[in-house]
Amino acid sequence: MTINVLFVCLGNICRSPMAEAVFQQLVDEAGLTDKFHIDSAGTGSWHIGEKAHPGTRAILNEHGIVYNGRARQVTAQDMADPQTYIITMDQSNSNNLRRQFGNHSNQHRLLDFSSQNAESDVPDPYYTNNFEYVYQLVADGCRGLLETIRQREGL
Ligand code: 4NP
Repeated sequence: MTINVLFVCLGNICRSPMAEAVFQQLVDEAGLTDKFHIDSAGTGSWHIGEKAHPGTRAILNEHGIVYNGRARQVTAQDMADPQTYIITMDQSNSNNLRRQFGNHSNQHRLLDFSSQNAESDVPDPYYTNNFEYVYQLVADGCRGLLETIRQREGL
């Protein structure tokens, strides 16, 4: 059975593509590639079809990760399977999803899985331009998320 993980932010050009790429690398390094389908999407439509933000691509490259995804918007189909892990970057993303699609039983914020307590929302680098700080938060959250999923799914 494939484990679906969908990372969600507002524009799908900064944070959720970063999380998708980092999580995919962790899964690959753990030898679990075949067990997962990992994707990302945004609640907004402004950037559909665009490449990830240059700041996101640069920070991923610095950390040895290539990302070629294009932005897309969350669909009702994305939200239809209650088993899918829906992982948002901040409370506003979570609220937007609930407003658009109703409650989802496996929806969480990424930093719920983080080892640090300073931030519970991933700050938006579209406004802060602090891509390295966002990368560190995203990477920490992704490590915790993978650990949680491995325990829950017996991997
Ligand atoms: P993201 O950042 O949600 O991390 O992809 C944003 C990108 C674009 C916009 C907002 C946030 N925007 O308003 O266009």
